Parts: sequence; structure tokens; C-alpha cells
Amino acid sequence: MLNQTFSTLTGYLLNSLNASNSITYIPRRKKAMQRFYESAKLTEIYVKYRGLYPKTASDYVIKYVVNNKKNYDVSKKLERMVEVGCGSGQATNLFAPYFKEVIATDRSPNMIKIANQQNAIFSHVTYAESSAEAMPVENASVDLLLSAECAHFFDLTKFFPEAKRILKPDGSLALLCYYFPTVQPAGSAKEPYVSQHQAILEEALSESTYNKNHYDQLKSHYQDIYEQIPSNQKSRFKLEMQKTYSMAEYMGMLKTIDAFQSKEFDQVAKFAERLKKAWRLNEGINHEEINLELFFVFGIIMAQNLSPKNT
Ligand SMILES: C[S@@+](CC[C@H](N)C(=O)[O-])C[C@H]1O[C@@H](n2cnc3c(N)ncnc32)[C@H](O)[C@@H]1O
Repeated sequence: MLNQTFSTLTGYLLNSLNASNSITYIPRRKKAMQRFYESAKLTEIYVKYRGLYPKTASDYVIKYVVNNKKNYDVSKKLERMVEVGCGSGQATNLFAPYFKEVIATDRSPNMIKIANQQNAIFSHVTYAESSAEAMPVENASVDLLLSAECAHFFDLTKFFPEAKRILKPDGSLALLCYYFPTVQPAGSAKEPYVSQHQAILEEALSESTYNKNHYDQLKSHYQDIYEQIPSNQKSRFKLEMQKTYSMAEYMGMLKTIDAFQSKEFDQVAKFAERLKKAWRLNEGINHEEINLELFFVFGIIMAQNLSPKNT
């Protein structure tokens, strides 16, 4: 396992710089305010409950990447993937088998630490601390640039030119995202449960302080971001995934979400209470014993041939 930190990766890049002028040296980020998704407390539960992408997502994305390559030998692996905002590495693991080399980056040292601990299964994956707006990667060297559930955090005016810089001329950009799932008790009819859950979710969000713009972007599956991509070669599609979670696991997932972090009261506990009441479940019932069906819709955006400037 290549357990490279950002500084060792930087060392590698500086060495390579002597051999080629095409490599950009990216200085370490200055001390910045730690955001929710970068905290040590969050990363520990994040790795347990989040980022469960369906295999069909990687199949679709890779098909698109390959289709856009001329004379590609399908018996061989693709060369290089770079992931930005990799978090604890769940999407990294899904895509890693298709590539000879993967560089997975995140601006959170805590996320990089946990990704390294969790993902010892692949020796060709290197995790590195870096921002999406300035990646420690050579020009025109990347077949796939992937971002899962994080493009809404980026400064897109810097990210798109950076994506253009590191992608090969026939390389592809993939942006994945998802919003809250619809939820119903396992084995029950859809209604009235789905609508009741939805109303309780809206109520919880109305009591919360969070970046509404981020959530609007996720809800629309990045409609705005899609329109801003400086390319005429782009497309988007949706994939569905059904997952059975216990109520305890679903509550664990909600704890990883920045809109459920009130300092005044336990928003997740309140959410569970309201849901049990609306669904007429016994208040004292163990959350491990309640099975839920979660239906996620994933948005996938693919783009190629990006313009060097934001248009
Ligand atoms: C919601 S998490 C998504 C993590 C993972 N990709 C997943 O699908 O579960 C968002 C991640 O983006 C990272 N992030 C946010 N803004 C970033 C930026 N500008 N550059 C690099 N990483 C960023 C955060 O540190 C966090 O790990």
C-alpha cells in the first residue's frame, strides 16, 4: 500500500519537475477554518454510514470514459484516475479496479487519514491532501477526474480550468451526487409512509441552520453546476438504488449530515421520535429492530473536452 502523504507526494512531484516542465507544484493549504465535513468526529461515522454508490454508477461512468477514447484496447486497464473530495474513500474503492493508478485527494487531513486506514486493499491508490481548485497532478495526464457528493463545495471558477489542465484531451470529468432518500418501513406499502417521512424531513430542515444553496443543488442533481460546465460535450443521467437500513443505521447516516448538527438539541433523536409517532411505532422500540427501505437517486454528470476558460 502506498501510504503517501501530501508532502511525500509533493516531493515526488518536485523530483518529477526536474524531468518534465509539465508538472505543477501546489503549495500546502494555509491553516483554514475546519469545516463540518473535515472534522475528526465526523470522519469516524462518515466511513460507516455514507458514500454507498451502486456498482452501476461506475459501470456507466467507465463506459462513457472508454467510449470517448480512440483506439482504446478494452483488454487493458485505463491509466489514471484522480478523485477530488474523496472523503473516506468509498467511491475510490468502487472505481479503483478499472485503473492502473489512482490519486484520491481531499482537503481534509482527517478524511485522508481514515481513507488510508480503510482502503489498504488497493496498492495502486495514493491518498493525498489537496484542494479541488489546485491539484498536485501533471498536465494532460488523467483519464477520469471524479468528484462524488462534493462539487457543490468547490470554487467552480478555479475547479473547471484545473480539470481542463489535468485531463488528457480524451479524458472525462464525472460528477456524482445524491439527495436524501425516500424512506418507508421495510415490507410496507409506499404511502402514507413516504409522504410522512418527507414532511418530517422538511420540518427538521426548517429548524436547522445549513447552507440551503448546497441542498438545492443536491436536490436538483446539480442542474446549475451542469449548466456551468464549460463544455459542449456533456450529458447527465440518473440511477436509482434501494438499500435496507435499520432505523439505527439511518439515524447514523443522518448524524453525518451538516443540516442535523444543532447545538441546541439532538436533531436526529427528535427526527426519530417524530417518525415513530407518525408511523405509529411503539415509542420504546429498539431502533435496531426497525427495518427501513431507502430509495436513493444518484445524479451523474459526464463532461469532456472542457474549455480552458469558464464561459
Ligand atoms: C460530503 S463529503 C463527500 C465524500 C465522498 N466523496 C463521498 O462520496 O462520500 C464532501 C468531501 O469534500 C471535501 N471537500 C470539500 N470541498 C473541497 C475542496 N474544495 N477540495 C477538496 N476537497 C473538498 C470534504 O473535505 C469532504 O471530505
